[in-house]
Amino acid sequence: MLVKPGSSLDICHIVNFPKVTDYRGNLSFIEENRQIPFQVKRVYYLYDVPSGASRGGHAHKELEQVVIALSGSFDVILDDGANRRTFFLNRPHYGLYIPPGIWRELENFSSNSVALSLVSQIYDESDYLRDYDEFKRWVTNEGE
Ligand code: TYD
Repeated sequence: MLVKPGSSLDICHIVNFPKVTDYRGNLSFIEENRQIPFQVKRVYYLYDVPSGASRGGHAHKELEQVVIALSGSFDVILDDGANRRTFFLNRPHYGLYIPPGIWRELENFSSNSVALSLVSQIYDESDYLRDYDEFKRWVTNEGE
């Protein structure tokens, strides 16, 4: 999915993954290009996050991402340079899709929470915008 920088928060959305329930418990699954709109190149996860700590604090130029509260709960605050919106994640069958060009902060982690991220790129520091003012300039200039 190609999303131009400066795209609005409207593209960010919650994905409800399939849930197979029986007396043994629940099972959810995620297939690339089906439940999520990209090929998964990397998986990483945040855990043992101390109470009060904040993660994220950056945007990506090209990377697409889905964040899942595999355990526990946390807030994801998204910002497209014009508007902000907070998503509360607290169930492992929901994922939050974040396109490129969106500033994100993860806050209010509950104890024992695990934040799983499925992303479309291998780790590349040059894809990061880690300074908010630089992000705002990048959004305004549509990546130039
Ligand atoms: P950082 O981007 O600050 O994490 P978060 O987005 O969760 O706040 O990353 C912390 C460190 O980990 C930083 O030095 C980069 C490194 N890192 C990798 O080496 N590989 C990865 O896949 C990720 C996400 C981070």
